[in-house]
Amino acid sequence: MSRLVIVSNRVADPHDTAPGGLAVALEEALQRQGGLWFGWSGAVTDSDTPQMHCEQWHDVTRVTTELRRQDHDSHYAGYCNNMLWPVFHNRLDLAAFDAGYWDGYRRVNQQFARQLLPLLQEDDVVWVHDYHLIGLAAELRALGCRQRIGFFLHIPFPPPVIFMALPQHEALMQSLMTYDLVGLQSKQDLRHFSSYVVDQARGQARPGGHFQAFGKRTRCESFPIGIDAQAFASLTTTSEALQVHATMQREYSQRRLVLGIDRLDYSKGLPERICAFRDLLARHPQHRRSATLVQIGSPTRESVQAYAEIRARLETLCGAINGDFGELDWMPVRYIHQVLTRAHLAGLCRAAAVGLVTPLRDGMNLVAKEFVAAQDPDDPGVLVLSRFAGAAEQLHEALLVNPYDIHTTANTIDQALQMPLDERLDRHRRLLARIQAQDVHWWCKRFLAALARPTTFGMPPP
Ligand code: G6P
Repeated sequence: MSRLVIVSNRVADPHDTAPGGLAVALEEALQRQGGLWFGWSGAVTDSDTPQMHCEQWHDVTRVTTELRRQDHDSHYAGYCNNMLWPVFHNRLDLAAFDAGYWDGYRRVNQQFARQLLPLLQEDDVVWVHDYHLIGLAAELRALGCRQRIGFFLHIPFPPPVIFMALPQHEALMQSLMTYDLVGLQSKQDLRHFSSYVVDQARGQARPGGHFQAFGKRTRCESFPIGIDAQAFASLTTTSEALQVHATMQREYSQRRLVLGIDRLDYSKGLPERICAFRDLLARHPQHRRSATLVQIGSPTRESVQAYAEIRARLETLCGAINGDFGELDWMPVRYIHQVLTRAHLAGLCRAAAVGLVTPLRDGMNLVAKEFVAAQDPDDPGVLVLSRFAGAAEQLHEALLVNPYDIHTTANTIDQALQMPLDERLDRHRRLLARIQAQDVHWWCKRFLAALARPTTFGMPPP
């Protein structure tokens, strides 16, 4: 079996108790077949020569590098999170189109390629992750790299008309087409990719995910990412999770817990969610005093202005709903701006009657899957899920909502709170079966098998 080399901007700390979904998924892949994980160390330097660091943990070698301060600022905070993230999430209004960011983006991709190439062995398979590193294959190829290289985009691929707002859309697409395989989260993402290739780049799309444009050929397919459902479910039996669960049950013996767990990101639809909960209390007064929304909004990308703004907006909304509806012994919303451990989150999920996963746009959303995996199979909670999350293509038995439609979302939360046990059991059984079958191992295997397949194009050479 070839050695697996994973490259991503973040490299999970093996000692971290609260890693994100992406980190957890990749850790799973590497532990199974051993390999190398290369990425940013999280440190910036004022020196001209960024230092690398190597650490061995079980069968995984982690090599991380520093970034020069100005490169980090224009790459991570700049092009990645001030341009690609908002544009790919349909938020052109939040994008800062700064001409200087692109050079930083290219420099970091070049630096990664220069540092990674000498670490590669002949039979390695390289798997690059996410929007920070779209240019990496092109930079590696320019240095003579011949190994197979795949790419997986964890965030949505936008409709061409939005994508083309990026001045560098053509360069980005050419970079993507340098990979042997491009993986996207959903069928909708694939349609967007295909329509860019065919309509904008005047290229060709052939059955089997074969694409040709800009004198290049690649394969692009959808590979919806999963979770390790079993591992997350077993977190609910850890002492930390049991303690959280017991505390919540004690406190909510007369009440229903409605739960949201998100990074505090404007793509997650948090203000809209608070407004929907407010609308629920206003129009369905039977839930006053009896339902509480616990919203975890973990701090993220705080150096980017749009994130500071969403935080202020959310805090104002939470304060207002508590001021207007709260009573001395009941507050409608408990908002927690902290990072909690995964065991803690698992305990919270299990205690919740309703999980609200209502992003305005999301590549997949693993919290939706974790919520289902953590439920008590004999008395499961109900998942309310945005139809604009990639997960909605798989999780049909959730209650699907349009998060912009506050009124209907409120009615759907009401429906979830009132759902009879037999319907909850039926929906949960189907959701859980799919989450278990299409888990993180299934995702990895499918992607790596597709990457290993020889490329036959069924079309004439470019
Ligand atoms: C999303 C992205 C990941 C990213 C994570 C955390 O899930 O798809 O690539 O690592 O958010 O964001 P951060 O900016 O802290 O890495």
